[in-house]
Amino acid sequence: SENIYILGIESSCDDTAAAVLCNGKQLSNVVANQTIHTDYGGVVPELASRAHQQNIVPVVHQALVKAGIDKSQLNAVSFTRGPGLMGSLLVGTSFAKSLAYGLDIPLIDVNHMQAHILAHFIEEKDYKKPEFPFLAMTISGGHTQIVKVNSYFDMNVIGETIDDAVGEAFDKSGKILGLGYPAGPEIDKRAKLGNPKAFKFTKPKVEGLNFSFSGLKTAILYFIQRETKANPNFVKENLNDICASIQYTIIGILMDKLKLASKDTGIKHIAIGGGVSANSGIREALKSGEQKFGWTTYIPKFEYTTDNAAMIAIVGYLKYLENDFAMHDVMASARLKI
Ligand code: KG4
Ligand code: ZN
Repeated sequence: SENIYILGIESSCDDTAAAVLCNGKQLSNVVANQTIHTDYGGVVPELASRAHQQNIVPVVHQALVKAGIDKSQLNAVSFTRGPGLMGSLLVGTSFAKSLAYGLDIPLIDVNHMQAHILAHFIEEKDYKKPEFPFLAMTISGGHTQIVKVNSYFDMNVIGETIDDAVGEAFDKSGKILGLGYPAGPEIDKRAKLGNPKAFKFTKPKVEGLNFSFSGLKTAILYFIQRETKANPNFVKENLNDICASIQYTIIGILMDKLKLASKDTGIKHIAIGGGVSANSGIREALKSGEQKFGWTTYIPKFEYTTDNAAMIAIVGYLKYLENDFAMHDVMASARLKI
């Protein structure tokens, strides 16, 4: 049968990414990280869109070269329509439209949050695909949601954050501790060397399946200010223990809500996705649910956790099979919902 080649383009935040899939199998997955934001302690939208504009052609070119195909072989161009930063989304959207028009092939719009979930359907050896219906907890720098996934494109958000995203809880805590941006990976690394019960932070009380992380950030800030007043070297001397304790608290919050969601819905097939699903602690905690609660868990490969274009291309492929194409006047949408 015929090979279907799909190009995916992702530019919703600060990473410019392009990937090529053949029949849902990854041939290339290229990401250009923007390191400029490190100095500012967060993503600067204006700088992000400028960097996308600079990176997009080389990144797409590299994805095609690595895949070993010519652009004339592509069957469709898929791109992130939203949610994300408008200036960033506009670069990927405009580029994808032009390329699809130039090659005279279908254009496919993709919801970034659906893509974090559907990344589990990329064809991979030793990858079991989730069984419907399943629960997906998407945890990233911009979002924290629990989604009931009935089929590829029938999803309901059953819980979400009422303030900060969980990735922000990592990044803002890291900023308080003087760590670089994004701080999630370093907190993860240090947490492995520290005692998770060294310091106790109270979990927020939020109704039902919703999350809140802004109170935790404030609690950590006050705690650090108080301890530093007594001992100016407090952070330096206890950094690993502080990181371990923060991570332990965050994982506790996430797992409590997942358990509740599983109980409420009766669904025991549970997936995670998004940048924070790279965290070793949450991966372990989720996995332990197999023994403890009889869950079947789905944990993404590292390259599919943080923002990437393979996840955009797999959604592109699934939509391609359904002839679900975008019009050429489709617009980027910063607040696109699942
Ligand atoms: O999905 P993503 O790349 O971008 C968004 O859509 O937001 O997620 C980025 C977030 C950042 O907050 C980063 O600190 C967090 O993912 N992150 C981690 C880890 N790796 C990335 N958080 C905790 N532990 C990690 N290992
Ligand atoms: Zn993301």
